[in-house]
Amino acid sequence: MPRLTSVYVCQQCGYKSPTYLGKCPQCDSWNSMVEEVEEKGTGYRVQGTVEKAEIVDLSKIQNIDYKRLGTDLEEFDRVLGGGIVPGSLILVSGDPGIGKSTLLTQIALTIPKALYVAGEESAQQIKLRVDRIKPNAHLAVLNEVDVDVILRQIDTFRPTLVIIDSIQSLETEDLESVAGSVGQVRECAHKLQRLVKHLHIPIFLVGHVTKEGTVAGPKTLEHVVDVVLSLEGEPANLFRILRSTKNRFGPTDEVGVFEMEDKGMMEVKNPSKLFLEQKVNAPGSAVVSILTGLRPLLVEIQALVTKTSLPSPRRTGSGVDNNRLQLLVAVLQKRLGLPLYDQDVFVNVTGGLRIFEPAADLGICLAIISSFKDKTIREKCVLVGEVGLLGELRSVRQIDKRITEAKKLGYTNIITPSNVKTIAQAVKLTLF
Ligand code: TYD
Ligand code: MG
Repeated sequence: MPRLTSVYVCQQCGYKSPTYLGKCPQCDSWNSMVEEVEEKGTGYRVQGTVEKAEIVDLSKIQNIDYKRLGTDLEEFDRVLGGGIVPGSLILVSGDPGIGKSTLLTQIALTIPKALYVAGEESAQQIKLRVDRIKPNAHLAVLNEVDVDVILRQIDTFRPTLVIIDSIQSLETEDLESVAGSVGQVRECAHKLQRLVKHLHIPIFLVGHVTKEGTVAGPKTLEHVVDVVLSLEGEPANLFRILRSTKNRFGPTDEVGVFEMEDKGMMEVKNPSKLFLEQKVNAPGSAVVSILTGLRPLLVEIQALVTKTSLPSPRRTGSGVDNNRLQLLVAVLQKRLGLPLYDQDVFVNVTGGLRIFEPAADLGICLAIISSFKDKTIREKCVLVGEVGLLGELRSVRQIDKRITEAKKLGYTNIITPSNVKTIAQAVKLTLF
């Protein structure tokens, strides 16, 4: 196939050059040139994709009842908003080794006539993985990196679902740059997107999270795809959290919890119980009730406050927002007179979960106070509430759900903004 004319375009100002330039001669930005296809239309296209543009009246359009494709993994379906929408392009991103290939292989095995496109691993390697999950299972595998060949294969094979592992390994001959570069990743994703919308086959793209550099991170892709799922977790910890950060067909704050085992990722049906299983009642430990999508979750927050040896003490959070942590420490210093100016503060959310909700504020504060005073928070206590700059507690949404979950797990002392108005009051009730 003749190569299409490609051109390097500055992403800052749009300057075009036939060759790669480290610095844009027009706007002087460095490393901003990305290779793009100059003329579209001669590459492989599914017949009928080039249709006449038409203006339509919305009222004449019939509502399509999306028949979502269900997998056997309930946690996975929930994160997507109730299954896979046909004709959606879904990006699954995560650090190398976190379990993306494992999870998607499991999904492919639950759906008849799924196609696994392996750009990184050989069919033999995929077989090893499949044998761990479900020995001798059937799975159609295509070992290919040329996106145009892949598109043609999908068009003839007509699978119900396609998994592309990974988007960074694909390339198109239309561009000269190497696989994994911003231009290649973007162009390949665009081609796949056109196919998805035309054939109504859902496609999953695996994308590695990479540092800034020559290899394009999934950030480039977020605008092209319909759904972005990220698989998170710490390598040392077996929990894996699947979160949707963009979803054109569902909620974005839903999480699915899995545990990496010998036979693949196992669903965790009652995460609160598991997260709290190893909790010990010691100074610095607090339990909060957070909402992920529609589901309430109880998680443990741990804090460690120790005398610093640095001129400016550390406030380090893992699983919580660092800016929020700084703010809460400042509130504790000012409103409760806690002398934290010469103390390092470390806060950790157990289980590898990341919390974005202000509803966890009160729990974070109490964990810090508890560690600083070396006193244990009273037993069976759950803390819920946003903390304001004046040290007051502010109400949070869906308090009833959180209380129900806490009661279900046997927590009887539930501190919420409806029964306690300030942090100082909460301290009196929970730390003696
Ligand atoms: P993998 O899915 O290859 O990660 P990614 O595609 O995100 O790079 O999985 C990586 C790790 O998971 C690997 O160290 C082996 C382990 N693993 C299990 O623990 N159980 C299993 O059933 C499988 C298939 C893998
Ligand atoms: Mg992989």
